Amino acid sequence: MSLEKKIETLRAKHAQALAGGGDVRIQKQHEGGKLTARERVAAFLDEGSFEEMDALMVHRTEGVEKIPGDGVITGFGRVDGRPVAIFAQDFTVFGGSLSEAYAKKICKVMDLAMKVGCPVIGLNDSGGARIQEGVVSLGGYADIFLKNTLASGVVPQISLIMGPCAGGAVYSPAITDFITMVKGTSYMFVTGPDVIKAVTHEEVTKEELGGAHTHSAKSGVAHFVCASDLAALAHTRELLSFLPSNNLGEAPRRAPKTPMPLENPDLDKVVPDDPSKPYDIRDIICGVVDDAHFFEVHEAFAPNLVVGFARIEGRSIGIVANQPAFYAGVLDIASSEKGARFVRFCDAFNIPLITFEDVPGFLPGVTQEHGGIIRHGAKLLFAFCEATVPKITVITRKAYGGAYCVMASKHIRTDFNFAYPTAEIAVMGAEGAMNVLHGKAIASAPDPVAKKAELIADYNEKFANPYIAAEFGFIDEVILPRETRMKLVKALAFLETKRDSTPPKKHGNIPL
Ligand code: HXC
Repeated sequence: MSLEKKIETLRAKHAQALAGGGDVRIQKQHEGGKLTARERVAAFLDEGSFEEMDALMVHRTEGVEKIPGDGVITGFGRVDGRPVAIFAQDFTVFGGSLSEAYAKKICKVMDLAMKVGCPVIGLNDSGGARIQEGVVSLGGYADIFLKNTLASGVVPQISLIMGPCAGGAVYSPAITDFITMVKGTSYMFVTGPDVIKAVTHEEVTKEELGGAHTHSAKSGVAHFVCASDLAALAHTRELLSFLPSNNLGEAPRRAPKTPMPLENPDLDKVVPDDPSKPYDIRDIICGVVDDAHFFEVHEAFAPNLVVGFARIEGRSIGIVANQPAFYAGVLDIASSEKGARFVRFCDAFNIPLITFEDVPGFLPGVTQEHGGIIRHGAKLLFAFCEATVPKITVITRKAYGGAYCVMASKHIRTDFNFAYPTAEIAVMGAEGAMNVLHGKAIASAPDPVAKKAELIADYNEKFANPYIAAEFGFIDEVILPRETRMKLVKALAFLETKRDSTPPKKHGNIPL
């Protein structure tokens, strides 16, 4: 064959790969409000940085059309100049369904990502296991699940759900660190509405069962929801800017857009005088971080605990904060799980943790107890205890009972513990303490209401303040709210060379 002919053959094969499932299916994809896999990759990566791999790979099933690339686009490229590995499922080819060859392509880029230490981004849009391949396809999924597990804690793994993701296929994204869903076009479920109707007689739409709202607000499966493919891709680029490329690296530093003073007098007014009044903890967070920019994770799920990324003097930090604006910032099952997962992510990837604490305790109730608040709450405790990254806590108001211990207290190796003068650190709130200690005395007093008020005032004076904890050294310093950023800047700079470790072991046994 002449050289010209050989070049022509190569071009023809590439053209076939580029065409995916053909114009009609591409048009259907666009009509459904979705970009194609190639358009997504191009929109996500730095311009011109994509290097495709295995564009000519095909499946091995007899009697089924072979399309070069076989329904998944894989390769590597750059985001803000940093390398990433990527795979994008192409719904126009066999509905993006997964074959043995397709799984091998994904595993290959994951192996490379682990070797070079770069994040893996998965763009999911698939009808699941390729029906014509049977168990070979299931084996392909299992191969990916194993890679996801081995890569966990080594390189960040981010999944974008941009179409169907059903059956066992959901477990690859589920193992990854973050899931972003696109509103209206994506769904995730283990069994779909038809099976559910047959088995449990419940009637539910795909959207209600596994749409973006369901998973971001109810199940907590999704960390982020975006309005479109493009919005989800841009959001993921920003997420990556807070993360290191791997567990041995540090997140890139990014100078604030506008220089921020170290003192912020506005912060003195955020925590209300009345300890029972709510306020938004995000007002404190935004008052101390660079450019007042807080990149919230799991925003709609368990809003009584706020978690997310921000920067202080350009350095990426993870924030965990009780939210007094929702259920008084109480810790419950959902918020404990949310917090634990975030803490463990930050610890795995060398991102310092800053905790803002205003927590009246764990949520009382039969539902919580029977739901296992003991073991779920223990996850958050375990995660904070285990974390060896720089840890700083600021108690803004309440720090009661077990929740005081859990929320990165000094006792669980937190490096710096600050408290505002408004802090209340005690075994329990005054009301509860009075019932336990003085119930009978109050009942038999000539004026029970006055007696109770007097005892409560006495208790608050004695216990509901930060000074006893400071006397014991459990609080390093009582600070004014306006000084928070300054204290965090200095503490983070000091902790930059922090080294800490846990005893040698295969792995701990977090109460899952
Ligand atoms: C092979 C598939 C396919 C599959 C879709 N297609 N799913 N081909 N294997 N799993 C093909 C269709 O035949 C069609 O081909 C094209 O993809 C687009 O599909 P449509 O049905 O026309 O698209 P749409 O109406 O948008 O519906 C999408 C869908 C539906 C909801 C995903 O296709 C569907 O229900 N597919 C089956 C889903 C499923 O049950 N998968 C197995 C789940 S179990 P043409 O040639 O007409 O374009 C599983 C186990 C994983 O995945 C286990 C891991 C351990």
